[in-house]
Amino acid sequence: MTDFAAIAQAHGTPTYVYDAAAIRAAYRAFASAFPGALIAYAVKSNTALAVMRLLAREGAGADIVSGGELEACVRAGIAPGAIVFSGVGKTDAEITAALAAGVLQLNIESGAELARIAEIARGMGLRAPVALRLTPDVGGAAFDQTTTGRRGDKFGLLEEDLVPLYAQAHRHPDLDLRGLSVHIGSQILSLEPFAAAFARLAEVVQRLRAQGLPVRALDLGGGLGIPYEDVHAPPSVRDYEALVRRAIGPLDTEIILEPGRALVGAAGVILARVVRVKEGASGRFVVLDAGMNTLVRPALYGARHRVEPLAPRPGPLEPCAVVGPICESSDVLARDLPLPPVEAGDLILIRDAGAHGACLASTYNAHPLPAEVLVDGDKASLIRARQTVPDLFARDRVPAWLA
Ligand SMILES: Cc1ncc(COP(=O)(O)O)c(C=O)c1O
Repeated sequence: MTDFAAIAQAHGTPTYVYDAAAIRAAYRAFASAFPGALIAYAVKSNTALAVMRLLAREGAGADIVSGGELEACVRAGIAPGAIVFSGVGKTDAEITAALAAGVLQLNIESGAELARIAEIARGMGLRAPVALRLTPDVGGAAFDQTTTGRRGDKFGLLEEDLVPLYAQAHRHPDLDLRGLSVHIGSQILSLEPFAAAFARLAEVVQRLRAQGLPVRALDLGGGLGIPYEDVHAPPSVRDYEALVRRAIGPLDTEIILEPGRALVGAAGVILARVVRVKEGASGRFVVLDAGMNTLVRPALYGARHRVEPLAPRPGPLEPCAVVGPICESSDVLARDLPLPPVEAGDLILIRDAGAHGACLASTYNAHPLPAEVLVDGDKASLIRARQTVPDLFARDRVPAWLA
């Protein structure tokens, strides 16, 4: 049992706390279900180097979307040959760095990007390994903002654009065309959207092969959801694997998966402290030292997290709004949450905050970024120091003409 009170004592609050055993178990569920596949951890979920190192030790590759994430992989010890580079806005500098590092493939999101990558590769005297990202026109993620595979979303290529581009890329002397990728979004709670996307992908593979165009690798993206609430029942990794085996197995390609949230989401909590309890006109506000600056998902998507006192006090439950210190009315972590009596100083746990938590934290209202701690059995180590108030202003310069 993690000693959260000791962690709060040693490192203060708010602090992100990750459980190494839970991350390993989540990774191993994928690795054992997909023995031949590359499990490319979607680094955007959590870029703490210690978390990435833990996954690298398990054998994970990475899915990256920026030069910063490439650097994180290098520092964490993820082999470049196990890295796929996705994203609509790869800059020349990022493309150059990825090609120089020797990444496994760049997932292409547009014809213009393909042309630019070919030019850069030619200038470097090498062939760029690429895959084309299909837009399967499938929705199905829990939030509109995390749905990425619909016609009209900014990601990927529609089949009518992809097929001629694939033929062009196949013939191109500066490109090594490996195959296709697809990623329809994040926090998907049923198999149907995956089934629809994989069926489209399989059709496109058959169409390309019928034209004599080889497809060696299929990157199936990420997206498998986690249960933030009791009502959520996402498919198991085993069920997901059975679908992949049925839909993609017969195509006989290399398989790449890009799970993020499913590896780290449930393994993290935010340890926060009650600053004040305020009786408002519409009920009780429990004000924490963590808010939308610490965890933006509730304000950004209306996402819900389980929020609970570490040591519940005896007494009747009363509906509360759990809020942060930020000067915005959207700074609400939980609404109408039945809580037992709470007092200033009590410790509170915000569950399932391992993905898109710390990496989306901000310094809004000049709050330093939280500390991050990794627990492994009886070890609890600080893996990212709390930012200090002086850190907040370290990059500021006041011009001499204002002196
Ligand atoms: C290209 C790509 N791959 C993988 C992922 C990971 O998704 P998830 O964390 O839901 O597994 C994302 C995140 O949305 C993504 O954009």
